[in-house]
Amino acid sequence: MAEHCRKIGLETRLCQTDGNPVVLAKTPRAPDSKKPHFLIYGHYDVQPAEPLDLWKSPPFGPRIEGRSLFARGASDNKGQNLAHLNAVEAYLATKTALPCDLTFVIEGEEEVGSVSLAAFLQANRQELQCKAVVISDTGMPSLKHPALTYALRGIIAFEISLHGPSRDLHSGIYGGTVDNPALVLCQLLGQLRDKDGRVNVPGFYDKVTTLSAFERKEMARLPISAAQYRNLVGVPRLFGERGYSFIEQRSARPTIEINGLTSGYQGEGSKTIVPAWARAKLTFRLVPDQRPDQIRKLILKRLRALCPPTVRMEVQTGHGAEPYLVSPQTPLAQAGLRTLKEAFNTTPILMREGGSIPIVTQFKKILGADSLLLGLALPDDNAHSPNEKFNLDCYENGARMGALLWRELAR
Ligand code: BES
Ligand code: MN
Repeated sequence: MAEHCRKIGLETRLCQTDGNPVVLAKTPRAPDSKKPHFLIYGHYDVQPAEPLDLWKSPPFGPRIEGRSLFARGASDNKGQNLAHLNAVEAYLATKTALPCDLTFVIEGEEEVGSVSLAAFLQANRQELQCKAVVISDTGMPSLKHPALTYALRGIIAFEISLHGPSRDLHSGIYGGTVDNPALVLCQLLGQLRDKDGRVNVPGFYDKVTTLSAFERKEMARLPISAAQYRNLVGVPRLFGERGYSFIEQRSARPTIEINGLTSGYQGEGSKTIVPAWARAKLTFRLVPDQRPDQIRKLILKRLRALCPPTVRMEVQTGHGAEPYLVSPQTPLAQAGLRTLKEAFNTTPILMREGGSIPIVTQFKKILGADSLLLGLALPDDNAHSPNEKFNLDCYENGARMGALLWRELAR
C-alpha cells in the first residue's frame, strides 16, 4: 500500500504503532497551503479468509469474472480505497490542481476494533487537523442506488470459556455425575435472546433511542423487498426482533450474535466424551445511545448470574465501538449527495448501516472532524464470507466520485 502511494506521487510514510502500521500518504502541498484539508480513511486489513475450500479461486490471488473482481478484501476495503487512490492519481498524473490538500490514513486494525489508531490520531493531531474525513467502507443497495450512510451500529465482543472436568472424560463412565460444559454453554447462550428476538439482558434496551416516523418512512422506501432480501441471504425464513422491518432490524436495532462455537470432538465419526471445556465468541451490535462500557457491565453481570456452579466461567472482553449517528442535512452530507448524483448519474439515497467502523466516533472526539460515508460495496459482495468480490462498475463510478468530490467539498 505504501509503495503504491509513493509510486503515484503521494508523500508517504509507514508509521509504526503498537499494532499494525498506519499508511499516511499526502498529496504534495506548499508548507503554507491555505487549501482545505481532508482525510481519506480506509483499512488494508481483512477478515480471515477461512474456510478456504469454499473459495472458487485463491482468496489472495485476484480473479476477474464478468464485472466482478474476487479476492479477500476486494470490497472490504481495498477496492474502495483504490477507487479514491485512482482519482487522486489522475489529478497528479495530469497535473490538474487539486482544490484541497488530501491525506490518506489507511490502517491495519479496523477489523479488530482499530485498537492502535486512536493513539496515533492523538499523537499526530496537528498534522491530521482537517475539515472532514471521507470514508468509503460501507455499502449501497444496488448499482442504481448510490448511498450516503449517516449511521452505523456499534459493537462489543466477548469470548466465553466454560471449564468442566480437568480433561475430556469417558461419557459412559462419568456421564451423569459431572456437568457437560457444551450443554451448559448452549443453555446459557440460549437464555440471552428471547422468542421475540430481543436481547435478554436486563437494562440492555434502556438507552436505545426510537426511530422517528420520518426515518421509518424513509427506510420503507429502500429498493429491496423482504423476499429479495431473504433470497440474498439464503435462509428458509427471515428472523428478527418483532415489531420492526428487516431494514430496521439490520441497521437501527441492537442484536446478539454467536460468531463461533467450539467444544468436544470436531473430527470425523463419533467420540463418546464429556468435553473438558466449551467456548463461544459473541458480539452484540449496539445502536444510539447505547454505550459499550455500560453495556459490557450489564452483559458480564448477566453471564455471571446465568452460570451454574458446576463449571468455571472465564470471560474475555474483545474489541468495542460506539454507535454512530449524524444528520444527513449538513453541508458536508449535501456535498456528498451532489457528488454521488453526478458520479452515478442517479439520485442517491440516505441510509443507516448495521456494520461498524470503530474509529469514526474517535475522528470527531480527537480531531473534531465529521465523517462522510460514501460506500461502494454491494449487498452481494460477500464481505467477511468466502468469494468476496468487488463490482468493477462500483469501482469505476467510485473513482469518478472520488475525482468529483474534492471540487464539491472545496466549494
Ligand atoms: N466495512 C465494514 C463495516 C461496514 C460494513 C459498514 C457494511 C457498513 C456496512 C468494516 O470493515 C467492518 O467489517 N467492521 C467490523 C468492525 C468490528 C470487527 C470491530 C464489523 O462491523 O464487524
Ligand atoms: Mn469488514
